[in-house]
Amino acid sequence: MLTVAVWNLKGGTSKSCTVQNLGAELAHRGQRTVLVDLDGQGTLTYALGMEGAAPTVLDWIEGKAYPLTTDTDDLYLVPGDVGMFQVTEEADLMGPSLGRLKGFDICLLDCPPSLGFAAVQAVLSADRVLVPTLCEPAALKGVSDAVQFIQEERPGIPIEVVRTRYRSRLVLSRDMDSQLAVQAVAAGYRLLDTTIPENIAIAEAIAHQVPVGNHAPDSTGAIAYGHLAQELLSLWSLPSAP
Ligand SMILES: Nc1ncnc2c1ncn2[C@@H]1O[C@H](COP(=O)(O)OP(=O)(O)O)[C@@H](O)[C@H]1O
Ligand SMILES: [Mg+2]
Repeated sequence: MLTVAVWNLKGGTSKSCTVQNLGAELAHRGQRTVLVDLDGQGTLTYALGMEGAAPTVLDWIEGKAYPLTTDTDDLYLVPGDVGMFQVTEEADLMGPSLGRLKGFDICLLDCPPSLGFAAVQAVLSADRVLVPTLCEPAALKGVSDAVQFIQEERPGIPIEVVRTRYRSRLVLSRDMDSQLAVQAVAAGYRLLDTTIPENIAIAEAIAHQVPVGNHAPDSTGAIAYGHLAQELLSLWSLPSAP
């Protein structure tokens, strides 16, 4: 199983949306995918229409629970729990919990925007890290701080950065593209080709509690998440079922 921590120190960079919609697109391509909601806010769990579902991530990290099925074939969820805000364990609970997951191809860890227990354990346990970022000047430092932290904790781990809520018409976005491309080479991460556009269908899909591919399959957001899944499967050397 390939484990990917989806993390950024900043909030609101579309981490949870990306875990939900990338997860659904990976499942559509034949990958048995499990999503773990590590954020006490539970945005991912809500977006999948599973708020209140149990057992939760707190049971899972204690070895007492297995992922639940979702409405999407091949997509599973370990639901969030507000109690995650209070977990301060120093022990490595995540590694053993991931080790107990059998029969899955990919695990996406939806991390809180912090350096708390859950995010740190996720980065320490993952095979790769995916960093969603906005394309605005303040984001450049955010990515560089996140990448520096990851590289200190896990030297050599592959890091992929995906631009989210992207507004291609803005000169600002294009300026950021070139700065991110330069930073990627200097800092040693991969800037993905696929960008996820700012698209109202993505926000609406959360309100409807379904992946954007179900809510509005022809929207630019849904199409972009399909492209992102294709790009990552190829990069991760995993097959894509037709
Ligand atoms: N591509 C997008 N287009 C439009 N709105 C988006 C997009 N991605 C995220 N959003 C909005 O931003 C909010 C925060 O996204 P979320 O995935 O929860 O961020 P994070 O997990 O990084 O804090 C969402 O509730 C949604 O309304
Ligand atoms: Mg989130």
